[in-house]
Amino acid sequence: MFLTFAILMITVQCGLCDKVSPKPGLKLFREDYKSVEETCLAVGFVRNNCRSATKKNHRLVAFDVMLKHDKRNLATKARIVFEHVELNEGLGYNKSTGIFTAPSGGIYVFDWTILTWQGEFAYTSLVVNDQIKSWNHCRDVNSKTLLPCSKMAIVKLKNGEQVWIGVFIGPANMYQKYTSFSGYKL
Ligand SMILES: *[C@@H]1O[C@H](CO)[C@@H](O)[C@H](O)[C@H]1NC(C)=O
Repeated sequence: MFLTFAILMITVQCGLCDKVSPKPGLKLFREDYKSVEETCLAVGFVRNNCRSATKKNHRLVAFDVMLKHDKRNLATKARIVFEHVELNEGLGYNKSTGIFTAPSGGIYVFDWTILTWQGEFAYTSLVVNDQIKSWNHCRDVNSKTLLPCSKMAIVKLKNGEQVWIGVFIGPANMYQKYTSFSGYKL
């Protein structure tokens, strides 16, 4: 009987002590702010760290890929598959297909550089869900050297939309690792 009473008392006491914050000052401080993000900003964390810690949509997405081998005579509408992956934060880029799939909706920045041989050309474009969004016209019949051509594009993507670099008029010829593609979410 006494033992049961003692156990009951201990249980009740522990139930009570759980409810009392060991740091009442911290609890009051937290209550003064509406959210974890506000608290985070108020105590002076770097703004972006607070955002990424509290908002799923702000997870880092960034990739940087390049060719491993020369691409010769790619036909119109061919997709360029960049086989060498330097960086793929957020795992949006697939190196077996060359397709980047947006892991979340938002504004994305892409750029790509093509290096072609003297007297040859490579007409490539940024393709979003099979639609051309940006053109990179690389042609120099008079040059005595290799010709690099770059293009940047900023596009608004929905979650799951697919982006790749395609040939808009073939044949396209491009030189291995100097031909690259990268992108990130703002
Ligand atoms: C890349 O795409 C291929 C072909 O669709 C697929 O089989 C593979 O699972 C994908 N890889 C990743 C990491 O998603």
